[in-house]
Amino acid sequence: MEALIPVINKLQDVFNTVGADIIQLPQIVVVGTQSSGKSSVLESLVGKDLLPRGTGIVTRRPLILQLVHIDSEDCKKTSEENGRRTLAVVTKLDLMDAGTDAMDVLMGRVIPVKLGIIGVVNRSQLDINQKKMVSDAIRDEYGFLQKKYPSLANRNGTKYLARTLNRLLMHHIRDCLPELKTRINVLAAQYQSLLNSYGEPVDDKSSTLLQLITKFAAEYCHTIEGTAKYIETTELC
Ligand code: GDP
Ligand code: NA
Ligand code: MG
Repeated sequence: MEALIPVINKLQDVFNTVGADIIQLPQIVVVGTQSSGKSSVLESLVGKDLLPRGTGIVTRRPLILQLVHIDSEDCKKTSEENGRRTLAVVTKLDLMDAGTDAMDVLMGRVIPVKLGIIGVVNRSQLDINQKKMVSDAIRDEYGFLQKKYPSLANRNGTKYLARTLNRLLMHHIRDCLPELKTRINVLAAQYQSLLNSYGEPVDDKSSTLLQLITKFAAEYCHTIEGTAKYIETTELC
């Protein structure tokens, strides 16, 4: 199933290149009030050393960050509809009054959330000002959880969040795959007939631009076709 993420990455590359809004790829959306720690959470996820570099599986995902602004009414509507797909992240576990804890919240006794609730400790503003490294922050987060929430420590924290998101994304992609495949096959056929309508390639040295366009269109078609085939062969899981 790990092979699914590269497939989606490849598709994302194709659709980014052509700037097309013609297909909905599976994705994770981050929602939260201002300064609740969204950027910090993403930063911790991206800054993690466990993510493989280069052509890796997960590395590119968090780096393709698309910020979309939707007004709060739409936002509420989307989170009603997609409530069953929600995972809650509780930030700032370190900023609680002495003698209190977030046990009830983390156990889901206050607000039940379908995909679970994961508590994290990100870098404070002071940590950021002092250029504390993400890796050090994650080590300290682990220490904090071990000390304050020993019974929950292995089900909370940035590391666990990263693993959980990775698993959720893969399952989500797997569920979306049949529809995505159909859509891509339709698109591939459409673009192939569009390409055919341009006629045979012209072997005229003076029309370099036309040749370039033709070549690009042909490559684009092949990429889409190739991706469709790739999906077909990886859809064993
Ligand atoms: P965003 O507006 O939701 O993206 O929030 P930011 O990630 O920018 O965080 C807002 C502020 O809260 C920053 O100063 C962060 O350093 C701080 N912050 C975020 N998460 C935590 C946390 O878990 N603990 C502490 N102490 N500060 C945090
Ligand atoms: Na902020
Ligand atoms: Mg932010």
